[in-house]
Amino acid sequence: MMMQKTTWLKTICLSVMGIGFSTAMQAQTKVSLQTTQNGGTISKHIYGHFAEHLGRSIYDGFYVGEKSTIPNTAGVRNDIVAALKNLNIPNLRWPGGCFADRYHWKDGIGPKADRPSIVNTMWGGVTEDNSFGTHDFLNMCKLLGTEPYLAGNTGSGTVQELSDWVQYVNFEGKSPMSDLRVQNGQEKPWNVKFWGVGNEAWGCGGNMTPEYYVGEYRRFATFMEGKDLYKVASGANVDDYHWTETLMKGIPLGLMDGVALHHYSFPSWEKKGPAVGFSEQQYFETMKTALRMDELITKHSAIMDKYDPAKKIGLVVDEWGGWFEVEQGTNPGFLYQQNTMRDAMIAGATLNIFNNHNERVKIANLAQCVNVLQAVILTKGEKMLLSPTYHVMEMYKVHQDATRIPLTIETGDYMLGSEKLPAVSVSASVDAAGKSHISLVNIQSKKGEEITIDLKGKNFKQVNGRILTSGKVDDHNDFDHPDKIKPAAFKDAVLKDGKLTVKLPAFSVAVLELI
Ligand code: AHR
Repeated sequence: MMMQKTTWLKTICLSVMGIGFSTAMQAQTKVSLQTTQNGGTISKHIYGHFAEHLGRSIYDGFYVGEKSTIPNTAGVRNDIVAALKNLNIPNLRWPGGCFADRYHWKDGIGPKADRPSIVNTMWGGVTEDNSFGTHDFLNMCKLLGTEPYLAGNTGSGTVQELSDWVQYVNFEGKSPMSDLRVQNGQEKPWNVKFWGVGNEAWGCGGNMTPEYYVGEYRRFATFMEGKDLYKVASGANVDDYHWTETLMKGIPLGLMDGVALHHYSFPSWEKKGPAVGFSEQQYFETMKTALRMDELITKHSAIMDKYDPAKKIGLVVDEWGGWFEVEQGTNPGFLYQQNTMRDAMIAGATLNIFNNHNERVKIANLAQCVNVLQAVILTKGEKMLLSPTYHVMEMYKVHQDATRIPLTIETGDYMLGSEKLPAVSVSASVDAAGKSHISLVNIQSKKGEEITIDLKGKNFKQVNGRILTSGKVDDHNDFDHPDKIKPAAFKDAVLKDGKLTVKLPAFSVAVLELI
């Protein structure tokens, strides 16, 4: 057997030993868990979601209106609320995305009949009647038990407008904005902590240079006044390291709490390929883009470390996920796509990366929650389904606010032609009750992998697990077969002599619990 060595990451080395389950079983991936070390808290906010006024995310998604025959609370679907509560979603970003820099919040308050209609010029050119506005969103967050993350308009809005929004939702005492809020039926402030100061300022948020945006940020952020606000600067597009450097250099510590980063996964930006029925090449290329998240976080973090060695400022990956061609026959501006086992691979591998970068990544938001891009929920009329990505998020929720267990991994390569990717990714944590969890992803399309995990002498008594996999990598749940893909009990994990041996099938995600 030919052996090669490649260094992918700081802590990850890889070796090639391409043996599938059909041939002799041989340990290919070796993981060493430093069970006695404390890797710090994995912020639950890494498991955040995103709801933009885009396509069928809000209207005909979350929000069907009070008069709908679909069971709802104040117009928000009860089935969606129940499903998202089961994920413990920690935060929800709204109203965009690109829409945020076109959104004027005062259009969305007061009696619905009096709210002006506008055109959603960004997404599909449809009429936006503003029937879902600030109160609707913030009260929905209460229903969901999640923290709102509001994205302010620094592109087409004014400093005064954003300053007023902060005062409207957060000010306890008497002021023109809090009086207006009370007049509109909300006595108590919502106390929103997370605020985006614009979105993609380098593109749809105003096509600004980083130098120009730094000036804008400083002005807008100064007048966003209130206690305990967490202000996030519009961050880099993928590998625009100059953007991050300019922000870190130009914005004083104390005026900025987070720096954003956006990175999507696809075979290529120009040829995104279909969401279902993709080729092996398209699958491989997508996973290559998804795994690049590790390099991006490492390099952006290194820049942040120069200016903020104490790691006070969070890297906020507030848009990530798979982006493919829209489903045939749907509005191209609505970004509706199916969600397959490929999406589950993107989710599992990306969340492992975030968990392992818990020191710098403090918030992340999957794009998007309902009916848009890599959605966890799809709806059709009264029907609703949970996507494979939903199930990954549900399996991984054990890592929320848990303590990371540092680890090293040596894994084989997933090869296509002369290209290769690391076959397996892993992250691990221990929760407040003392239960340890290991999440493993094997992205190989055809090969199972045997994984041995050295537990460094910790005497665990029992291992339980669940797995998500299917027959084909483009398998998905549809409205006629909503439960085709769902987690199942995982029996191929054996605990013996302080070692765990796991047989992970091709394209699968498993989460193990050790007690
Ligand atoms: O998530 C879809 C869009 O992608 C967002 O509106 C924008 O911020 C990004 O370019």
